[in-house]
Amino acid sequence: MFPPPRMLLSAILLLATGTVAITYDYVVVGGGATGLSLAVRLSEDPTKSVVVLEAGASGIGNPNITNLRLNAGNFGTANDWQFVTVPQVDAGNRTQAQIQGKVLGGGSAINSGMYLRGNKAEYDALETLGATGWNWDSMFAAVKKSEHFHPPSQTEIDTLGLTYNPEYHGFSGPISIAIQAINVSRFFPEFAVPTLQGLGHSMNVDPNGGFHNGPSWDFLTALPDSSTRSYAVSGYYLPVINRTNLHVMTESQGSKILWSAAKTTGGLATATGVEYISFNTSGIPKTQTINAKNVIISGGTLNSPKILELSGVGNPAVLSPLGIDVVVDLPGVGANLCNQPLTTASYLLKNGTVDAGNAIRSAIIDIEPFSSYLKGADLQRSEELLATKPDLLSEAQFAVMKTLITEGVPQMEFAWNIAADANNVSTLTFDRLILVKPLSRGTVT
Ligand SMILES: Cc1cc2nc3c(=O)[nH]c(=O)nc-3n(C[C@H](O)[C@H](O)[C@H](O)COP(=O)(O)OP(=O)(O)OC[C@H]3O[C@@H](n4cnc5c(N)ncnc54)[C@H](O)[C@@H]3O)c2cc1C
Ligand SMILES: *[C@@H]1O[C@H](CO)[C@@H](O)[C@H](O)[C@H]1NC(C)=O
Ligand SMILES: *[C@@H]1O[C@H](CO)[C@@H](O)[C@H](O)[C@H]1NC(C)=O
Ligand SMILES: *[C@@H]1O[C@H](CO)[C@@H](O)[C@H](O)[C@H]1NC(C)=O
Ligand SMILES: *[C@@H]1O[C@H](CO)[C@@H](O)[C@H](O)[C@H]1NC(C)=O
Ligand SMILES: *[C@@H]1O[C@H](CO)[C@@H](O)[C@H](O)[C@H]1NC(C)=O
Ligand SMILES: *[C@@H]1O[C@H](CO)[C@@H](O)[C@H](O)[C@H]1NC(C)=O
Ligand SMILES: *[C@@H]1O[C@H](CO)[C@@H](O)[C@H](O)[C@H]1NC(C)=O
Repeated sequence: MFPPPRMLLSAILLLATGTVAITYDYVVVGGGATGLSLAVRLSEDPTKSVVVLEAGASGIGNPNITNLRLNAGNFGTANDWQFVTVPQVDAGNRTQAQIQGKVLGGGSAINSGMYLRGNKAEYDALETLGATGWNWDSMFAAVKKSEHFHPPSQTEIDTLGLTYNPEYHGFSGPISIAIQAINVSRFFPEFAVPTLQGLGHSMNVDPNGGFHNGPSWDFLTALPDSSTRSYAVSGYYLPVINRTNLHVMTESQGSKILWSAAKTTGGLATATGVEYISFNTSGIPKTQTINAKNVIISGGTLNSPKILELSGVGNPAVLSPLGIDVVVDLPGVGANLCNQPLTTASYLLKNGTVDAGNAIRSAIIDIEPFSSYLKGADLQRSEELLATKPDLLSEAQFAVMKTLITEGVPQMEFAWNIAADANNVSTLTFDRLILVKPLSRGTVT
């Protein structure tokens, strides 16, 4: 039913038996959204050899992955790292599950597929904070290159009122994007949109151009059936699966970076490869190594810091007590963790009010600045709260984030969704009420 879990190629087998020591040009640790697409792009140069290590299985052909609507079926399974937070003191000491993809494609294999770029001001803030060349213009060009947008049909435009701006999209990239349009309830054009307009919100024709204030239709990383997932594996990897200079190894977990014996005169450490653990078909782990001229760590938000710390890159105050030699003193590793708190709210509708359709994703996303929802007195109070910098947030980031708030960059996201049960009892659900730019920070160690 599924392809074999490992895609070991002959070169790797030779390496594993110690017969030939290959030095790859690149080893990429973590075959997720970033790592897999980067490996595919790097290996477009046939003179470069690239190997990807992915801790999870291939997942190729698993309907829980290929059908976007079944994504929650992966949560808490082997396709999820199943991380849990420490007890959160400010949430009654409750813990929270932190879902992270553990399968080829990473989060792009199990996420909700909502396609929404951030705000222009947020990307430009990256450059303000020191990441030269990382700004809205450079990001916009790159994401359009990765996109294959499928415009809605004229019928969908006429019946549902779908809108988009062609200038904000790419039409020949590897990742398919479509507006949620199949089986969408009449509730949205007939009730939700007029209600939002009555409340003074103008519809946003297309939120993917750097300004997403206001309600808009939901764009998905999916084929135009709005159900088949388009992700790093289907978009980037499968079309080039036979490329001989690209090797992808699943169920192979990078454990640490290998370093050359001596630091250079400038005090720089040089990576020479990685150590990894692979599992044979009986699940028995075996520690092996790969030599490479370049090592790329792309294990995701929660795993990349761990790999770096196990390799001696991090905060000495964390590493030294654990007996890990400090190779690179870099206190930022594992710091500045940010996540968006989310809650849901559901309203039972009167029988016979609307046809529910059978879309199960949000059809409308409303993204607003605080000033759209908070009263003057609340905004006054927020000024007082913003006088104090939260712990763990740098002064520079705090300054930027305050500017985003005062300049009206949206801070809240509301996702409108409607569903009916077997008896046609319909529920209007705000399945995502999200604070999109929280100021609080955590750590991962
Ligand atoms: C439940 C959920 C819903 C989401 N919904 C959306 C959404 O609707 N829209 C949106 O834009 N984004 C969404 N996201 C976020 C999005 O998926 C992530 O931002 C994106 O996947 C991050 O890419 P990444 O490459 O940094 O990490 P990941 O995609 O997580 O990839 C990291 C990969 O590295 C592997 N790995 C980790 N450690 C090791 C190791 N030691 N050795 C080998 N491999 C390792 C992991 O198994 C994983 O495959 C969602 C995420 C989740 C979890
Ligand atoms: C899909 O997810 C469901 C729910 O977690 C699970 O029972 C089922 O085994 C999964 N299917 C596959 C093929 O992994
Ligand atoms: C949470 O845990 C801390 C530390 O154990 C304890 O001091 C505090 O009283 C707990 N708070 C609640 C609400 O239980
Ligand atoms: C749309 O509805 C039809 C008929 O109920 C159903 O067969 C189809 O799977 C639905 N498509 C989606 C994407 O939900
Ligand atoms: C890869 O090679 C196999 C075996 O030769 C072939 O069946 C398949 O179509 C090829 N895939 C692509 C995407 O070229
Ligand atoms: C897995 O590795 C163990 C330990 O080396 C070995 O005993 C076992 O036979 C291996 N199983 C398979 C199926 O290769
Ligand atoms: C709506 O219809 C369902 C199914 O027929 C029924 O169970 C429910 O009681 C009705 N609700 C109301 C408020 O009439
Ligand atoms: C639900 O509504 C659909 C469409 O209006 C109708 O065909 C179906 O019979 C209804 N089902 C029930 C259980 O009332």
